[in-house]
Amino acid sequence: MTPRRAPAAAAAAVLALTALSACTGGAVQGRPGASGLRDPYFPKAGNGGYDVSRYGLVLDYEPRTRELTGTAEITATATQDLSAFNLDLAGLTVDSVTVGGKGARFNRVGQELTVRPPDEVEKGAVFRTVVRYSGSPKTLTDPDGSKEGWIPTADGAVAVGEPVGSMAWFPGNHHPSDKAVHDVRITVPAGYEAVSNGSLASRVVHPGGTTFRWRGGDPMATYLATLAIGRFEISTGRSPGGVPLYSAVAPAEAKASRPVLAKVPEVVDWGAKKFGRYPFGSAGSIVVPRDTLGYALETQTRPVYSSAPSEELIVHELAHQWFGNSVSPATWQDMWLNESFATYAQWLWTEDHQGLTAQETFDAYYEGDTETVHDADEDFWAFPPAEPPGAENISEPPVYTRGAMVLHRIRQEVGDEEFFRMVKGWAAEYRHATASTDDFTEFAEESTGHDLTDVWDEWLYGEGKPAEE
Ligand code: ARG
Ligand code: ZN
Repeated sequence: MTPRRAPAAAAAAVLALTALSACTGGAVQGRPGASGLRDPYFPKAGNGGYDVSRYGLVLDYEPRTRELTGTAEITATATQDLSAFNLDLAGLTVDSVTVGGKGARFNRVGQELTVRPPDEVEKGAVFRTVVRYSGSPKTLTDPDGSKEGWIPTADGAVAVGEPVGSMAWFPGNHHPSDKAVHDVRITVPAGYEAVSNGSLASRVVHPGGTTFRWRGGDPMATYLATLAIGRFEISTGRSPGGVPLYSAVAPAEAKASRPVLAKVPEVVDWGAKKFGRYPFGSAGSIVVPRDTLGYALETQTRPVYSSAPSEELIVHELAHQWFGNSVSPATWQDMWLNESFATYAQWLWTEDHQGLTAQETFDAYYEGDTETVHDADEDFWAFPPAEPPGAENISEPPVYTRGAMVLHRIRQEVGDEEFFRMVKGWAAEYRHATASTDDFTEFAEESTGHDLTDVWDEWLYGEGKPAEE
């Protein structure tokens, strides 16, 4: 879906492949869509020339052989006349591609799957691409050394995709600026569960196994797609505020998870009070076996935790449902917009539950007081939150902790009333859309009526530790 404001890089990226188009007479007017959106950190992620509205994935997974068989039906609108276009896909074997029901030629180089439809796709046309693929999906290593993509477990697998892991299990426009509805139909052998985003529309046991239909419901950046396959304890319910819940917990983690997951309904409803209406039609948790990932991820509606989470962690991942998932980053440079709010939500939760005030937390970090906050000695002055030096730094403490400090500095400048009005306004204004750092700084100033230049200069973009006020 079209972001409210496209990343500035996208327009320029369209130029990238024009040299290849054969416009020498004949009927061909279109040119290939760009092979990347020139994200400042992941230039090849995403593709130009079209805008996806829906992914319909029909999958079959055999945990014993780790073999995935898939059909991805991708509905998109052409944003230029297209003679060819790219999808991102890492590994796997592409068996066939059709566009508009007709066989298309394709070829692959690295993560780029180039599709040449038999008929050119005209600008504005809604077109459907069907990719049939199979193979054993890869675990990818992202620039900071973390595992993502498809990660096998002792009795199944889990898929996580931040920042660019989802291309390991389905072809797509894998950049957060192109959000789309995802529906997943997954068949697994009898006795296995399969959990994805959104709500479970049906679960059918048949001689070939069990087929689950997951309906995403709302637009989603592809990095937030998940699929967890394995033996899980399932629980369902509803928060007092009315949000339907579905959770899946690896049996070995069930006992330790229970007291914390019992707070999910309360945290969801607390978030709605603090940040505005919960953005999605469902919520919940997925707890995979210990050490599967080494981190948690805010996968849409249903975060993935690698072992039993802490209360702070569920607050963090659930806050991402508003900040990151509903309001998504325009590029990976805007990661701090996700992590600052999710981290600040932890401070707010503590403040609202008889713990440290956010001011006390801020002070402890500023002073490096490890007796008050255990991780106060991390190097969050290493770089400014809005300008990580490289792709390997986007999940580091300056983005999280110093990002949260940026938000607290705004609160100090404008006062509680204006601050919380701004936070709710931000979540409402960009609900189910994407936003850049410039969108945020502009919005914060407009909605509070304060000039926040000094906060941006020193805390968001400044090198080193800002001087005491
Ligand atoms: N966004 C996740 C969170 O804050 C963390 C993802 C970590 N990924 C990584 N490659 N380091 O909950
Ligand atoms: Zn986070």
